[in-house]
Amino acid sequence: MSQETWKAVDDYIAAKLLSADPVLEAAMRACDEAGLPAISVTPAQGKLLHLLARMQQARRILEVGTLGGYSTLWLARALPAGGRVVTLELEPKHAGVAAANFARAGISDRIDLRIGPAADSLARLVDEKGEPFDLVFIDADKPSTADYFRLALKLSRPGTVIIVDNVVRNGAVVDAGSTDASVQGIRRFNDAVSVEPRVTATAIQTVGAKGYDGFALLLVTEAPAKAGI
Ligand code: SAH
Ligand code: DHB
Ligand code: MG
Repeated sequence: MSQETWKAVDDYIAAKLLSADPVLEAAMRACDEAGLPAISVTPAQGKLLHLLARMQQARRILEVGTLGGYSTLWLARALPAGGRVVTLELEPKHAGVAAANFARAGISDRIDLRIGPAADSLARLVDEKGEPFDLVFIDADKPSTADYFRLALKLSRPGTVIIVDNVVRNGAVVDAGSTDASVQGIRRFNDAVSVEPRVTATAIQTVGAKGYDGFALLLVTEAPAKAGI
């Protein structure tokens, strides 16, 4: 199987199952035109995030890593009236593109975009002692993923769903000796999850228009997770 096939199947899935969406398409175009890196989730992955948020009946969503807001828009569209996405972005340029995309989509009022290092924004959210989040999507700098996971746990409740992007990295995740800081970051994240009794987790490998990668899916549990579940 080749990248060409994965892309063709992603296009087929999008054409068949995802209705044409001018707002999301305009957002993706704006990301490209602004020269942002082409690392947004794919349409099929965005729809997955959207469906998971709806299945979870999420009212409060936290995203770490906004880029141009493409995944944010998919998540925000899953919110019921009065729901909110808090999304964290380091780069003012990325945040500017995202803010324009949110305004064009007419849903800026549902999105709280915070600019700065995510670790600082997360610490501030912990200090704010707001309601816990129902769903968290972690998709920023990979070396810090374990730190974002620990902070996200502080902002969670039993039943919170945590999704982490890019946990397979073309298969490199199995290379314990990798010199890639992102790979080592994902490995540290998996180590942290493996010894964290308050979550139960899996990871799913994916192929598609953006290559071979994967998502981790975690559920925050009330009691320490039982072995094997
Ligand atoms: N979730 C987006 C893609 C995010 S790409 C989507 O699918 O549409 C990763 C983003 O994380 C980039 O915009 C990058 O600037 C941001 N980032 C990198 N380091 C960060 C940090 N320390 N704090 C917050 N954001 C960071
Ligand atoms: C990279 C980051 C991402 O969030 C992604 O989905 C793909 C690639 C990267 O930094 O290379
Ligand atoms: Mg990603």
